[in-house]
Amino acid sequence: MSNQKAAHEQWSSRFTFVLAATGSAVGLGNIWKFPYITGENGGGAFVLVYLLCICLIGIPIMMAEILLGRRGQQSPINSMRTLALESGTSGAWAWLGGIGVLAGILIMSFYSVIAGWAVSYVIEAASGHFNGLTGETAGAKLGALLGDPLQLTLWHTIFSVMTAVVVARGVRSGLEKAVRILMPALFVLLLVMVGYALSTGYFMQGVNFLFAVDFTKLTPEAILTALGHAFFTLSLGMGAIMAYGSYMPKEASIAKTTFAIAIMDTLVALLAGMAIFPLVFANGLEAGAGPGLVFVTLPIAFGEMFGGAFFGTVFFVLLVFAAWTSAISLIEPATAWLVENRDMKRSTAAYSITTVTWLLGLITVMSFSHWSFGFEFAGAQKTDGMFDVLDILTSTFMLPLGGLAIALFTGWVMKKAYVQDELGLSQGGFNFWYQLLRWVSPLLLAYLFIHSLGF
Ligand code: PFF
Ligand code: NA
Repeated sequence: MSNQKAAHEQWSSRFTFVLAATGSAVGLGNIWKFPYITGENGGGAFVLVYLLCICLIGIPIMMAEILLGRRGQQSPINSMRTLALESGTSGAWAWLGGIGVLAGILIMSFYSVIAGWAVSYVIEAASGHFNGLTGETAGAKLGALLGDPLQLTLWHTIFSVMTAVVVARGVRSGLEKAVRILMPALFVLLLVMVGYALSTGYFMQGVNFLFAVDFTKLTPEAILTALGHAFFTLSLGMGAIMAYGSYMPKEASIAKTTFAIAIMDTLVALLAGMAIFPLVFANGLEAGAGPGLVFVTLPIAFGEMFGGAFFGTVFFVLLVFAAWTSAISLIEPATAWLVENRDMKRSTAAYSITTVTWLLGLITVMSFSHWSFGFEFAGAQKTDGMFDVLDILTSTFMLPLGGLAIALFTGWVMKKAYVQDELGLSQGGFNFWYQLLRWVSPLLLAYLFIHSLGF
């Protein structure tokens, strides 16, 4: 045990932790998922609920999750056990880490398939295949990909291997430098796309859709989706941020770091929305078109704009990259656990977990063609098949419940002195956060759940 602790690597600086955690946060959730679920849930009111969830639930819980990781100094499962015992309660809290590991594996299974779409679109863009696309032909292009399980499996495999290779070598090497250059590049490319959206003449219509709040459009499911997405987009509630927090230097401020990550993540999502919705309206597309939204709208724009093959290629490369840095954090908790508890070599652990996520990913691959079916799940939720089931199960249920458990553990179970010591905030700042974490976040979370599920 003690030599594991000594061997536990550290990020080289606070800045590196910010980069790695931002790499985890910013991903498909911002650019693929946020626009399509915003479209499906009617826009502005949904976005407002999502932003409130980020501020009142996501940020306080993110601070707690980082804190648990840094104090625990191990993989999430073992950190939770150690911290529970340290505060004189049952080591059974380790199950919390266990659920997180499972959530990470389930999310990775479909995340990798969607990232595969982006890999395939790198090649489409580079080959000039976006030229002259219309709403109809762009939809048909995506449809052809989704209807071809073998092709989807190929891209899914490539992305899975890419992720496994990095995790096998240890998350530190390479990741730092890569995030430092490619994240700002992604940001710039999004600005280019927002610039293009400005030129369509439909910019204000898109912005209105995103920000004009109309509460009559807000369904109970929309509220739950917004809550779940706040967790998904910040990589919260499953131990990913906890695992990264365990590598964070002691002197770094958890509060400042959390704000930095949450602000960047939110900005990227809103920019993606501002780039995409004007295109939706300019091309007479359906805002609620579903998971294909980004992969239909942006290619049309790249096909029309000056230098579109270049920008399109760079954009999808950066999207794959953003997905990659997130995927790494999805399988890190499971990998770290195998290394610590099963005495596995890091590489063996990473490849074993990837084998599992790859196999499970085939369910998502098939759900876009042969296994697509609709049914009711969890009361009012309508799904389009297994992909949706996995998505709803993880984002709407596992992550928020994991987050609730993190809030309750940190706010009510852990000794206050330990929490205060680890956070290192001023008395006033600490008290404010502590009350949010103990009362506001859990009660709001519970209320949204109970209200939306109609109990
Ligand atoms: N935050 C990532 C995104 O927005 O794409 C997805 C994610 C990564 C969720 C890691 C959960 C996680 F642990
Ligand atoms: Na995100």
